[in-house]
Amino acid sequence: NIFDFGMIGLGVMGRNFLLNMADNGFSVIGFDKDAAKNTALEGSATPGTTVKGVSELSQMISLLKRPRNVMMLVPAGQPVDDVIASLLPLLEKGDVIIDGGNSHYTDTLRRVKYLREKEIHFMGIGVSGGEEGARRGPSIMPGGDLAAYENVRPMLEAVAAKVDGTPCVAYLGKEGAGHYVKMVHNGIEYAIMQLISESYAILKAAGLSNQQLHETFKTWNEGKLKSFLVEITADIFLQKDDKTDAHLVDVISDKAGSKGTGKWTSQDSMELPVAVPVIDTAVAMRTLSGYKDERIKAAALYSTTTAAQIVPTQELIDKVYDGLYFATILSYAQGLAMLFQASKDLQMDIPLPEVVSVWRGGCIIRASLLPVFVNAYKQNPELSNILLNQEVAELVKSAEGNTRALIAHAAQAGIPAAGLMSSLAYFDAYRSERMPTNLIQAQRDYFGAHTYQRIDIPGTFHTEWGQQ
Ligand code: 6PG
Repeated sequence: NIFDFGMIGLGVMGRNFLLNMADNGFSVIGFDKDAAKNTALEGSATPGTTVKGVSELSQMISLLKRPRNVMMLVPAGQPVDDVIASLLPLLEKGDVIIDGGNSHYTDTLRRVKYLREKEIHFMGIGVSGGEEGARRGPSIMPGGDLAAYENVRPMLEAVAAKVDGTPCVAYLGKEGAGHYVKMVHNGIEYAIMQLISESYAILKAAGLSNQQLHETFKTWNEGKLKSFLVEITADIFLQKDDKTDAHLVDVISDKAGSKGTGKWTSQDSMELPVAVPVIDTAVAMRTLSGYKDERIKAAALYSTTTAAQIVPTQELIDKVYDGLYFATILSYAQGLAMLFQASKDLQMDIPLPEVVSVWRGGCIIRASLLPVFVNAYKQNPELSNILLNQEVAELVKSAEGNTRALIAHAAQAGIPAAGLMSSLAYFDAYRSERMPTNLIQAQRDYFGAHTYQRIDIPGTFHTEWGQQ
């Protein structure tokens, strides 16, 4: 029994994760039915490291040190249950199974309970950073059994991305917490991607070329918007097509795909409930992008001659810069508020200071903003919404005026900017001491005797409306 760690599923993510672990001094073994993937794993190992690929699951299990640490990186859903079923006859009490895919946390909860009865530890772990992250250092979001985590902790810390020498991995809570945090990470990822695409739409409408878009995003990535998503966006505008002489971005279909994590974030936010409208909007816009045929008809039917022109001035670019910054902060605020609530309501004990710390490096939503949030939670680990932190408030206020101006431009020019608009609408509601929802209460009581509370007298009231 010589191997420290086993992996099931040797797609690019599984292979890269193992190679990363081997580079950090651990002996690793992978299983894939496809022999070509085993060869690819061994063939890409760094000389001097201990890496083996096998096409018999029982062989892999028999070669692992005890208690065994077995991770799977397979598609979410039934494949995870199938892997568990095939592992069960081979494992022993105390062994650890890790699901590193994007599983829904309720599935993880079910599996944790099922395997606990068999005295096998099951951990749901969020892994972010794509192929390159898995190879060079992902952000890792583990949840579940704390004892099992302590077992695998040295290995996870070794492979994780490092920020100022600190590994981007920490125990993020009980039961399904790891997958819950990863789901919300992806919800924020959807929101920021939507906001960047709206910023692109506005700048493109103003006439910026791909070269100018590249330069703009590149400059932004050197300032307060510095982040992985802004960085790759700058790169994307440079990429030439290898089939035509166009820029690749211009020949890519506008129908956006999705695998479910953004939708789950919205669905689960409504279950709690917590308001995450920028994430909801991002999910809706991906759905709307699929209505291609209808959009073509509607474009002809509603083509407008009244839309204002947008002019490519530095002033406009600055407004987009601030608008994107403002709405990005609002996206994190909504996602983190969701984690705050879910941690309590679902008894997951998610430590928010650790979550934002883990997100500083390796993951898709890493950004220079994250240390600001780390500070906010250092000051108050029980912060229900980062918008209530003084430093965050200053950053939001500094971009507020330009955000309002930008949204007015977009509305007048007829450019869809639902994410930006939604972030401002949330902000304006959130900072309202009194919302107009008193009227909704009155209406509910009027037509359905749903009752209401008063601002001056305690208790519950009902009125026979319209009988004066
Ligand atoms: C990550 C990503 C990763 C994946 C998403 C994409 O953190 O590395 O989130 O998990 O890219 O699942 O999701 P969609 O296909 O739904 O856009």
